[in-house]
Amino acid sequence: MARTHPAWTGEAQSSRSLHWMLLKRLAGLSILVCTLTAVGFFYAERARFAATLRDAVSYGAARFERLAVQELNAPNLGDHAHLQRILDDFQIFSQPLHLGVSARLTLMDAQGRVVVESRNRDFPGSEIDPWLAANRFAPTVREDASRHELVFIGTRPFLHMLIPLRDSASRVVAYAESLFAVREAVIRDATRRMWLTQAMAVGLILVTSGLLYPIMLGMLRRMHATSVLLLEANLDTLDALGRASAKRDSDVDAHSHRVTLYAVRLGEAMNLPPGDMRALIKGAFLHDVGKIGVPDAILRKPGRLTPDEMAQMRLHVVYGRDIVSRSTWLRDAVQVIGGHHERYDGKGYDRGLAGEDIPLTARVFAVADVFDALTSVRPYKDALSVDQALDIMRAERGTHFDPAVLDVFLSLAPRLYAACVGKGAEELEGLLREVCARHFTADARALFEVTERLRLDGGE
Ligand SMILES: [Fe+2]
Repeated sequence: MARTHPAWTGEAQSSRSLHWMLLKRLAGLSILVCTLTAVGFFYAERARFAATLRDAVSYGAARFERLAVQELNAPNLGDHAHLQRILDDFQIFSQPLHLGVSARLTLMDAQGRVVVESRNRDFPGSEIDPWLAANRFAPTVREDASRHELVFIGTRPFLHMLIPLRDSASRVVAYAESLFAVREAVIRDATRRMWLTQAMAVGLILVTSGLLYPIMLGMLRRMHATSVLLLEANLDTLDALGRASAKRDSDVDAHSHRVTLYAVRLGEAMNLPPGDMRALIKGAFLHDVGKIGVPDAILRKPGRLTPDEMAQMRLHVVYGRDIVSRSTWLRDAVQVIGGHHERYDGKGYDRGLAGEDIPLTARVFAVADVFDALTSVRPYKDALSVDQALDIMRAERGTHFDPAVLDVFLSLAPRLYAACVGKGAEELEGLLREVCARHFTADARALFEVTERLRLDGGE
């Protein structure tokens, strides 16, 4: 593998997608905040409006208490006819006319029994009575507190309110239940004010987002550049380790390059998920990295290995697993490194795994590895033709190789071999560069997405 280059990680493409992601996230966030703000303003303004009406009605109730003090002090609320006259006069003259008109004013004793009632003839009982019967406040829940709610009867808004009335000794002796019809002009004003406030808040949020966008984009681009450098450094590590292991073996870089290309094409044909593809590439390139720990006398011995030497040679799987398992970025290569000499029938090494207990990436790689070994020249053998190699591999379908993986490879092999045969290290490196750009761009993007999410969530 050559010195890494921005093309490995698709830097330009990631920058564009970063720009897009930020725009989408910021727009989404702005819409969410605007919506929440609008809803919050709506309820706050509605509560403020209801409180204004409540205060006006409460002021009227305090005046009523002063006018009716004699009857409120008397047992059973004194002369009810006198109370009725006060209530009717009050209904007509003492309401907060600039806000609306009283539609119904009911005076109840301390037990909630209706004593007298004043009706405004502009509001027909056919509409008001059924509503009041169903929604009358129960005065015994908290006798010392007034209650109010903004309600709609038909299409018209009313303030429905219950006000405790006290005698001269501040004892609650009666309740006034008021149904106050709000003037349409008041409602229009309040609605206009509410929309104006909401529009200003939304505008403020959008302007703030617009000002923040270039700042955040600049910061994310710097993080993006750092992330790319980090990924390039990781790919350099992969490159260095792969080269180191290749130099120890009798074959040079070409085997690692070819076998990685075969494995990647096979993995793509099998639609392996992106994470598995990256693990496969790393594992394929480093599959024999453990040979660093095998003595030269064994590694480069031209003749057959003795059983003891073979046992030492097999330890390269253990060494390789140990080398990469200490690296966070290379750890996923363990599947291939640790399983590339396993066999589907369980007679491989070093753990003797069988069938689907062998990681899929290792089963894919094993097919690519054996094919390349058979079709390459070795100190102890000549290269076989593609047909000869595939015949041998077909004979081991279900014993050495996963049948499903081998079947896919059989149809790919002639084309793959033709694409790689006779190519020098430079050309193979070029092909590998394309592979890494395709698969590690996703790796870089995943890294950017995580960092971006952390930043947008305020996690940094
Ligand atoms: Fe190996």
